[in-house]
Amino acid sequence: MEDLPPAPLISRKASGLRGHIHVPGDKSMSHRALMFGAVAVGETRITGLLEADDVLNTAKAMTALGACAARGLDGVWRVEGVGVAGLRSPETLLDFGNSGTGVRLAMGLMATTPLTARCVGDASLSRRPMGRVTAPLELFGTRFETAEGGRLPLILYGARDPVPVTYTLPVASAQVKSAVLLAGLNTPGVTTVIEPTPTRDHTERMLAGFGAKLSVTEKDGARHIALEGQHELKAQAIDIPGDPSSAAFPLVAALVTPGSAIVIANIMLNPTRIGLIETLLDMGADIKIENRRLSGGEEVGDLHVRYSRLRGVRVPAARAPSMIDEYPILSVAASFAEGTTRMEGLEELRVKESDRLAAVEAGLQANGVMTSSGRDWLEVSGGGAPGGGKVTTHMDHRIAMSFLVMGLAARIYTAIDDSRFIATSFPAFIGLINRMGGRIGPPESK
Ligand code: S3P
Repeated sequence: MEDLPPAPLISRKASGLRGHIHVPGDKSMSHRALMFGAVAVGETRITGLLEADDVLNTAKAMTALGACAARGLDGVWRVEGVGVAGLRSPETLLDFGNSGTGVRLAMGLMATTPLTARCVGDASLSRRPMGRVTAPLELFGTRFETAEGGRLPLILYGARDPVPVTYTLPVASAQVKSAVLLAGLNTPGVTTVIEPTPTRDHTERMLAGFGAKLSVTEKDGARHIALEGQHELKAQAIDIPGDPSSAAFPLVAALVTPGSAIVIANIMLNPTRIGLIETLLDMGADIKIENRRLSGGEEVGDLHVRYSRLRGVRVPAARAPSMIDEYPILSVAASFAEGTTRMEGLEELRVKESDRLAAVEAGLQANGVMTSSGRDWLEVSGGGAPGGGKVTTHMDHRIAMSFLVMGLAARIYTAIDDSRFIATSFPAFIGLINRMGGRIGPPESK
């Protein structure tokens, strides 16, 4: 991606979005389906996999580790599982591109098999902290050689005789939780993760579906997830529903653009992922969830969304884990609301694909929206975004998409410096918005 030249875009005022759309498969589930399939016994078949750069890098990594993951002509992905102890040293570098989930979960998966793997990522991923994962994995007996500050690139030496670990998460992170649990898969005895603040639970749900011996209990307000290691996983057929974090962009686009009425079909509604929908409902959004059903162990539904007059709210810190990737687009919604929106508990935004708190605030201010912020909070004054600013996206797909959405309803337009990284999670985004009536295009277009 970094080899291609930056691709600036402009988003102009639209007169209402209309359509019945699908968004790509859930990113968190897609990474996990490939990785769990890689260490199961037999062939895992995945439909609805997100075919975006982040997940394709995970598929390549699983293939390099010996578990061939490939798309059939029928669009179904097949992963040839090698068993919990079957991964082998890759002959090539494992390049995870832009994806923190890809590299951190894969580190856990590899940590307790005696293999050597070199992991790299792009400039954004190479700035992100890896110590939050290497520290607990070292407790199993895994060794690492890392770049300065415990960052990528790194070499992982998997433990030959791993010992089980009980680990209390010091940050609310599903990636850290998952890395520890995945290291437990090939470790004798019971590995336990204690989670004081609940985070997305796709690892627990999907591992149980693969037949892992896993129990979840609650003690003193914390979740205890215990996994008995060295049990075989059985290959599965998995159907991945639409990603609520991708649906967030057309959802907010319709809410803030007058005259809009859209349907976003088949969206995953796992309770640990719907903080944005809850917040938008608090803000007065006209969102109806219809056709609720179960699919692949997850609740899904269709979102019927209409343009709404939103009002500012306070978003409590306790809600942050269930909408951690949605603050950039919520901030755009807040800029069109009446009154001020205050978001708290945002410290983790500092270590995402960019420092999202800083990037969002700079983008809002560039477009004439008044803000104030602290180390872990942001306040956005509503009333409508004047627009006219050029936003620096810092290799961050969600910053890019958020400010393109803003342009659809801003008084003039918005511009972003680079749209390349949208391909990490939502390659069809621009076409999809434009087919509904959006006006996103290169700076020279009309
Ligand atoms: C993810 C967990 C979250 C989220 C990321 C996907 C996952 O990261 O931001 O986009 O699939 O486990 P953290 O665990 O770092 O909060």
